[in-house]
Amino acid sequence: MRTEMYHLKIIQVNLTQRLSSILPDIVDEVTLAWQDNTNITDQWAEINLWEVMLRVISRAVNRMFVGLPLCRNQEFLDNLVEHAVEVIKTGTILDMTPRAFRWFVSRYTSNTPKTMKKLMQFIGPIFEERKQKLAKLGDKWTDRPDDAIQWILENAPPGESSSTVQMVNMILFLNFAAIHTTSLSVTQALYDLSVHQELHTPLKEEIRSVLAEDGGWTKQGLTKMKKLDSVLRESQRLHGVTSAPLMRRARVPFTFSDGTFIPKGTVLCAPASAIHFDGFENPLEFDGFRYERLRKEEGQATKHQMVSTSMEYLAFGHGKHACPGRFFATNELKVLLCHIIMKCEFKGLAAKRAEDSFFGFNRVADTSVNLLIRNRKD
Ligand code: HEM
Repeated sequence: MRTEMYHLKIIQVNLTQRLSSILPDIVDEVTLAWQDNTNITDQWAEINLWEVMLRVISRAVNRMFVGLPLCRNQEFLDNLVEHAVEVIKTGTILDMTPRAFRWFVSRYTSNTPKTMKKLMQFIGPIFEERKQKLAKLGDKWTDRPDDAIQWILENAPPGESSSTVQMVNMILFLNFAAIHTTSLSVTQALYDLSVHQELHTPLKEEIRSVLAEDGGWTKQGLTKMKKLDSVLRESQRLHGVTSAPLMRRARVPFTFSDGTFIPKGTVLCAPASAIHFDGFENPLEFDGFRYERLRKEEGQATKHQMVSTSMEYLAFGHGKHACPGRFFATNELKVLLCHIIMKCEFKGLAAKRAEDSFFGFNRVADTSVNLLIRNRKD
């Protein structure tokens, strides 16, 4: 998959700097997508959380990426979700294939050409139409759409990157980065909350009080929800999407400042699980409000926020290549969790929390688990 570095500008500038103005759209899409993909009544009923979350998150992120009405087209969304699963499978097969045969093997295993063909049908014409409008109106085009299609169109460097096929490819890349990571994170947080019922009431009270104080949803209000933020961060500490972030290959022989030498071609990564267990009381236990307590200590108010990365907290990586989508993802996760916590009661079928499995270094939630859920009575 080809991407130029301008994807960082799109995420860091176009998406992240608009988090306040796009919040009403996130709230709208998350709420409707949850309603449309669940049928929650006053009676306890089972739902498969993973299936629901893939549908809700793919729709919510695409409200920002491609806008209405396409973000509600299930065939379009299914293509994106299936593609991500296939990319991970193909990647694993290719990792086991000798380098010389990889190109040949990928021709028969990769589903990217099939997905791209479908996406070209869905969004190719939108890019074409907007390209023509931009060429015709230029700066006089005042009511431009505010979605990733437009951001890509206006930021893609001239040349091959601004061909329709490469711009559609960028939409595919953004979806690949966003859908499974966010769906896994919310699923893991709800698995944790399903076995920690004692957290539900304080969370509900926090959400209710912030929404009342701010008169509704605001970006600052989401930041004030420190208990919710802590639950998400603690869930990611134990169940983050990768156990080996910061994976890099040395392109040249390199000597670190402490004298450690690595030859060209060495693959390095950070042992996130070991680091995440270090320096905590009861490190293996899920302690939902652990980070909220840490933030009360002097000078620690921002260090332990969900979006803050450090050498000790690597769920979003760290440094120059830390996840640029984490601010958007955290807002989206909070809005969705607020909605579920305020509207529903939920619990696990079993007393024990769902267990993770690994696909290489990728941590995967148990997608077969069902939760019991019903409308909240109070
Ligand atoms: C809760 C959801 C998410 C999690 C847990 C997550 C996690 C990560 C991790 C662990 C990395 C690798 C960092 C490294 O190893 O150095 C990463 C990179 C990245 N993520 Fe996310 N991510 C999430 C959501 C998103 C979203 C919504 C987007 C796009 C809007 C996004 C875009 C990216 C991109 C483009 C990179 C590569 C950055 C670079 O190489 O400079 N992510 N993410």
